[in-house]
Amino acid sequence: MTRSYRDDPMPVLRTDSLSVSFGGIHALAGVHLELDQQGVTGLIGPNGAGKTTFIDAVTGMVPSTGSVELDGHDITNLITNERATRGLVRTFQTLELFEDLTVEDNLAAAAEHTAWWQFIVDALIPRRTQPVLPAVESALELLGLQDERHRLPADLSHGRRRLVGVARALAAQPKVLLLDEPAAGLDSAESLALGDRLRAIADTGVTVFLIDHDMGLVLDVCDQIHVLDFGSVIASGSPDQIRNDPAVVAAYLGRAAETS
Ligand SMILES: Nc1ncnc2c1ncn2[C@@H]1O[C@H](COP(=O)(O)OP(=O)(O)OP(=O)(O)O)[C@@H](O)[C@H]1O
Ligand SMILES: [Mg+2]
Repeated sequence: MTRSYRDDPMPVLRTDSLSVSFGGIHALAGVHLELDQQGVTGLIGPNGAGKTTFIDAVTGMVPSTGSVELDGHDITNLITNERATRGLVRTFQTLELFEDLTVEDNLAAAAEHTAWWQFIVDALIPRRTQPVLPAVESALELLGLQDERHRLPADLSHGRRRLVGVARALAAQPKVLLLDEPAAGLDSAESLALGDRLRAIADTGVTVFLIDHDMGLVLDVCDQIHVLDFGSVIASGSPDQIRNDPAVVAAYLGRAAETS
């Protein structure tokens, strides 16, 4: 892999030879990838390229070979929950919210994931009188959801629900926030607004990793982009480099021709 940022400080997330097979399909084929702590890193590629599988493997949700390092520590043998506790938090391609909980409580459920003492607090203080956790408040603010905090997800538009999904992951206080198609189903104005939110999250020091098919969003918001095709990284670089990379154009045009 060619990298123009070779002399940068230690990456916050690093995979080495990360591979996943489903039966005979090599969904991920030896992926070496490094995420800078600063900014937003994108992962794009045609349908079935292995993007979701990459997040699944990094978070320990599918069996894989190879290694994963977070902040210089080998986390390859940790289970998903332990990786989350260390700061690796994901969203899912298919948005799943707790429909019976308010927006605020959806976030609180994620924030409390790491707060073992919350169980003691729950036993001592009735739920309604508990203060809102700072991580919840900050996530609501960063995603602009303060006015909808007491509403149920079902009462929100698709675009606002998507933001709740991102806010919920953020409430878990990630070091690295892995987003699987957060802009799916958003119109272009909503997608632009999401881009601003993602930059704001990155500005707080959270490393943002973005998978999306919305090329406008990815090219606009990412500092670095990696391109997957058939489970392998075929290009890495700045948005301008990726936009003009012949291998990337060929991968997209090739798949488009196959499906037309
Ligand atoms: N649980 C599974 N069992 C078998 N094959 C799977 C499984 N999950 C994914 N695959 C296969 O692995 C490959 C990569 O799938 P993946 O979902 O990671 O692609 P993707 O890049 O996220 O695609 P999309 O853009 O459509 O979300 C595909 O060929 C897919 O069919
Ligand atoms: Mg996917």
